[in-house]
Amino acid sequence: MKGFRYYNPVCVHFGKGVLERLGKEVAKIGKKCLFVYGMGSIKRTGLYDKVVEQLKSAGVEFVEHSGVKPNPVLSHVREGVEKAKREKVDVILAVGGGSVIDEAKAIAAGAVADCDVWDFFEFKAAVKKALPIVTVLTISGTGSEMNAGLVITNEEKQAKFGFRAEPLYPRVSFLDPILTFTVPPDQTAYGAVDAFTHVSEVYCNREELGADVPAGIMETIMKTIVKWAPVAVKEPNNYRARAELMWCSSLALCGITWCGAGELTLPAHMIEHSLSAIYDIAHGAGLAIVTPAWMRYMKERRKEHLKQFAKNVFGKDSIDEGIDAFEEWMRSIGCPTRLSHANIPASDIPKIAENAYQLSVLWGLSDFYTVDVIKEILELCR
Ligand code: NZQ
Ligand code: ZN
Repeated sequence: MKGFRYYNPVCVHFGKGVLERLGKEVAKIGKKCLFVYGMGSIKRTGLYDKVVEQLKSAGVEFVEHSGVKPNPVLSHVREGVEKAKREKVDVILAVGGGSVIDEAKAIAAGAVADCDVWDFFEFKAAVKKALPIVTVLTISGTGSEMNAGLVITNEEKQAKFGFRAEPLYPRVSFLDPILTFTVPPDQTAYGAVDAFTHVSEVYCNREELGADVPAGIMETIMKTIVKWAPVAVKEPNNYRARAELMWCSSLALCGITWCGAGELTLPAHMIEHSLSAIYDIAHGAGLAIVTPAWMRYMKERRKEHLKQFAKNVFGKDSIDEGIDAFEEWMRSIGCPTRLSHANIPASDIPKIAENAYQLSVLWGLSDFYTVDVIKEILELCR
């Protein structure tokens, strides 16, 4: 068992009807909030009205910052930073998925920073403080509601970068699985794959194979997602399925899985960020394409890890059968698993590899993940 430091200060309210506590909890933290949300799903579902009612009844003033797009962009973050400063808000409320929560985190950091917010993403500056963040999660997948990470796309540079900083842990997150009943089947599947790969990447890269607790936690999360994602895709209003997926997603990237297993590394994520940056595809869809290819490329180097993955998650005797079963599961819930399924031409592989290499350098993975290695992995995505 590797030594570790584990810190996670997020207060989670999970279950049916937890939103009833939203107003009071926000009021404990601030008097005026920036209410951040996406492209309109919360208005269609009626959640917007409930949030407004909660804030009003608790006497919390609010200013809206809407229109956060999936794969959120820097220009919109900068608008949010300006608004937060101008309006002198003292708390940020994010109502949505990973995109909304990530943008809220970037605004929370930018609003009290002396530098431009993008400097944090290029590691030119470190986040030392941030406005407090409250989240209401509407789609399972990224785990942003329970971690200190965020990912933003710089449209000018065509760069999708991410980092983690402790001041960016949400103070409070509200997780009501019922709020995810309206998530369409494709987004449900992408979210499930995202959460699954947060665990499978750690499982297949861990330094320590002889620690039962992290291995057991990770296997349980992966098997639970494999079991319940197809149910949620077919039966959107199945509470059990939505609840299992929601809690798995939050646990998958909250830090608990790699305690005792070694440092977090996410090489398939690193390559996927370039697919989202260049083609604006959903993060989970990109991961469904890259992750099996990464596993095939690493078959010899991660033999024991992948054997355990095949056996303990998919009940298969060989690595090949395990990876095939993983790919088949993703296809069965409607994910693309090859570049061509997402209309990405194989002739773009060199361009994608160059783009991903920037992140490889920033994340300290470039000793192994050179442009050529990334290209070879992408070749297996054809
Ligand atoms: O924008 P709206 O109208 O709200 O619609 C969204 C969006 O179109 C819709 N949606 C969300 N909740 C819904 C709903 N539709 C109906 N009913 C609901 N209840 O779903 C679409 C996708 O939303 P989005 O927030 O983009 O999805 P997700 O949660 O997958 O977030 C993806 C972003 O998070 C980043 C990804 O890179 C991507 O930019 N990630 C963040 C991480 C983190 N902070 O730790 C880690 C991840 O690895 C990931 O990189
Ligand atoms: Zn992810």
